[in-house]
Order: sequence, then C-alpha cells, then structure tokens
Amino acid sequence: MSIKRTDPLRVAVLASGRGSNLQAVIDAIEAGTVQAKIVAVISNKKEAPALARAGRYGLSAFFIDPKPYAGRLDSREAYDRELLDVLKHHDVELVLLAGYMKIVTAVLVEAFMNRMMNIHPSLLPSFPGLDVQKKAIEWGCKLAGCTVHFVTEGVDEGPIIIQAAVPILDADSPDTLAARILEQEHKIYPRAVQLFAEGRLRVEGRRVVIEAGTPKGEVVISQS
Ligand code: GRF
Repeated sequence: MSIKRTDPLRVAVLASGRGSNLQAVIDAIEAGTVQAKIVAVISNKKEAPALARAGRYGLSAFFIDPKPYAGRLDSREAYDRELLDVLKHHDVELVLLAGYMKIVTAVLVEAFMNRMMNIHPSLLPSFPGLDVQKKAIEWGCKLAGCTVHFVTEGVDEGPIIIQAAVPILDADSPDTLAARILEQEHKIYPRAVQLFAEGRLRVEGRRVVIEAGTPKGEVVISQS
C-alpha cells in the first residue's frame, strides 16, 4: 500500500565532495519530480563544494569537524552522535549519503535503519569500496553502473533499491566510464528518493520490493 503525503519528505544530504548528486536531487525537487525538502546539508569537509552549492540554494549547510574527536577510542561514534543531534533537530526523515567519505557507525545506522540511502558507482555487490570504475575496467567487465541502496553497517552492503547499467567501451578510461555512470546516478538517486517519499519501498531481508504506484489502496495523510 503506497502512502501519498501532503507534506514534503524531510531530507538531509551528507556529502564530502563536489555534490553533483546533491545537485541532481535539488534539480528534481525544483522540477517537481521529487516531493521532498532538503532541510540540511552536512559535511565532514569544511571546503566541500557541496556545502557551497547548498549555500547557493539557501539550504542549511553544516560543517561538522571530525578533529575534536580524533584520538578518542570512540571517535567515529562520538562524531556520529553530534551528527545525529543535527538530524534530529531538523526532524529528518531520510538521510542521503552522496559522496560522503566517512564510514557511518551503528549510531547513525540504527537511528536511520531503512531510512538512510547511499549511492555507489558500481553494480553492487561487485566492486564495493574505492576506485571502482578502474577496477571494473581492469576486470574486463562489459557492464558497469551504479546502485542506490539502504545503508547498513557493512560498507556498500545494504539492500539494493535501484541500479542502472552502462556499457564499458574498449576506449574507456576510469574517468570516461565514471562520467557515463554519473549521468545515471543523477537519474536513479532522485527516483529512489521519490519512491521513498511515496512509501513504496518495502525491505524484506536483503531485498527491497518496490510496490506498485497505483492509486488503489492509497492512504492520504492530511495535515489538517
Ligand atoms: C559518486 O560517484 C557517488 O556514486 C560516490 O561518490 C561520488 C560522489 O559524487 N559515492 P558527487 O559528490 O555527488 O558529485
């Protein structure tokens, strides 16, 4: 049963880099294809272009400095507790990792179980981790792609929501392949957010079932 909301889904984006996926979500919201509102953009990198991008759109942008936690045994968990406070303060319903180069701990994973997504530039479960376009070429794969998945404690391991595939051409370098994959990332990440906003993602063990978007059985939640 899908749920039609009348209020936009409250989304936070965590990003460490250029933020092109953040931009894709911003664009989809502006175009009306995603019914959501970005209530916070958070980075572990002060100079992340994603933060500047957020600023240009008048979005609330936060740099959370990892340095004060360095050296502590629980440095990653303590960092995530500070981050979680920001997410709670903004009543965030869905967290998007978009080029967020920090491993999230159980503190965040448990608080946002099945409510935190990541985008990864490979067809998972092949090629988790870094430099994955280069690895796909080196392995002689004929197809590469990208995956949106829910975040669990295992890196790049959670239930898969959507994937898109692209060919690997003989002439490809990691950069040309990454550019071809990125085009697809910008399509499937907003799509996954909208499916979530429509209440159509059901997690069954390792699998995500996408429920039909028929008006039959829809529940309209009214604010009044
Ligand atoms: C993307 O390729 C994404 O799949 C990966 O990191 C990159 C982030 O790019 N997780 P951007 O910062 O969204 O442009």
